[in-house]
Amino acid sequence: MSLASVVSVVSLCVVYGSVVGNSAIDPFKALNITLNPDGTLTRLSIPPQSPPSPDPNLPTPALSQDLTVNQSKHTWARIYLPHKALHSKTKLPLIVFYHGGGFILSSANSTYFHDFCANMANQTESVVVSLDYRLAPEHRLPAAYEDSLEVLHWIRTSNHPWLCHADYSRSILMGESAGGNIAYNAGLSAAAEAHLLEPIKIQGMVLIQPFFGGTKRTPSEVRLAQDYTIPLPVTDLMWNLSLPFGADRDYEYSNPTIKGGARILDQIKALGWRVAVFGCEGDPLVDRDRGLVKLLRGKAVHVVGNFYQGGRHGIFLGQPSMSRKVFHLVTTLYK
Ligand SMILES: *[C@@H]1O[C@H](CO)[C@@H](O)[C@H](O)[C@H]1NC(C)=O
Ligand SMILES: *[C@@H]1O[C@H](CO)[C@@H](O)[C@H](O)[C@H]1NC(C)=O
Ligand SMILES: *[C@@H]1O[C@H](CO)[C@@H](O)[C@H](O)[C@H]1NC(C)=O
Ligand SMILES: *[C@@H]1O[C@H](CO)[C@@H](O)[C@H](O)[C@H]1NC(C)=O
Ligand SMILES: *[C@@H]1O[C@H](CO)[C@@H](O)[C@H](O)[C@H]1NC(C)=O
Repeated sequence: MSLASVVSVVSLCVVYGSVVGNSAIDPFKALNITLNPDGTLTRLSIPPQSPPSPDPNLPTPALSQDLTVNQSKHTWARIYLPHKALHSKTKLPLIVFYHGGGFILSSANSTYFHDFCANMANQTESVVVSLDYRLAPEHRLPAAYEDSLEVLHWIRTSNHPWLCHADYSRSILMGESAGGNIAYNAGLSAAAEAHLLEPIKIQGMVLIQPFFGGTKRTPSEVRLAQDYTIPLPVTDLMWNLSLPFGADRDYEYSNPTIKGGARILDQIKALGWRVAVFGCEGDPLVDRDRGLVKLLRGKAVHVVGNFYQGGRHGIFLGQPSMSRKVFHLVTTLYK
């Protein structure tokens, strides 16, 4: 990226900042990142990370290990297996999980996502595959979507002993925040080539506070413009760093309602997928998330909106009682 566009990234935020009256928020400072002249990002605060825990003698919620998915892209996945699967021949459902971080931050081994996935494997008795996809701006969208579809083919053709515990005919795509956006967009591609993914049969998608946007502000974005977790200047910057060059927030990747929604949603309906969207009123994204539910309902896709009072962005992973609501819903999705 040229220096001119680096400057324009900054000025864009200043413009939006003044529009919503929070020009005091510098998103680069808020995220502790700097954009380099070559277009790469320096991430100064790496969130806490956890190592995998493959040892069955350790008292962890679930076993975990890291496996390379595509060496040339440096993508890998952390696989979680409930302890009791080691002593059982019963096949467990599969959850493919995509972590959050605005497309630009975090990892499958970030403690926040690791703990959630380990507890989910235990409490839903599922095999969980959490993908470490390529981040923007080094790899702009659709790179993360491509990786997220590729991991499904990798799972399908892998003969790793842990994956042999999974019943691929009961698979779910799940993601939080930007990961929810990724699950949705990877889901659209997966639906288009459902026959190529066999024996994986996706039964549904669980989208936790999925990160979507649009050029026209929603009431919740305006009301919570200065939110301390994801204020508007921060989400604007995340889009600017992750969308393809020249795209605005009404691009199909960020705004799923544009042009009446993806045509492939008809296929998702025909496949009988069930979709669950989680959100809460304290999250600036809540109106986008409700908008997605409305879009899917209009397409006659089986969708359930699970919206809660108060809260904030991140609450479904950060609060065990809220995580349990997600785990409970997952068990109702399995046919
Ligand atoms: C940014 O990261 C640096 C290096 O880790 C750290 O010293 C600093 O405290 C961080 N600043 C903020 C605002 O988090
Ligand atoms: C997390 O993954 C990154 C690579 O994406 C790696 O550099 C780091 O060492 C890993 N940390 C842990 C604790 O596994
Ligand atoms: C695993 O889940 C069960 C309930 O399904 C719970 O009783 C147990 O404490 C969990 N184990 C760990 C280590 O979290
Ligand atoms: C791995 O990534 C490379 C580079 O994008 C691609 O050409 C190759 O097909 C991928 N391999 C697999 C097994 O998907
Ligand atoms: C980022 O913002 C600048 C300034 O408005 C714009 O020219 C550029 O196209 C944006 N880039 C993306 C990927 O949205």
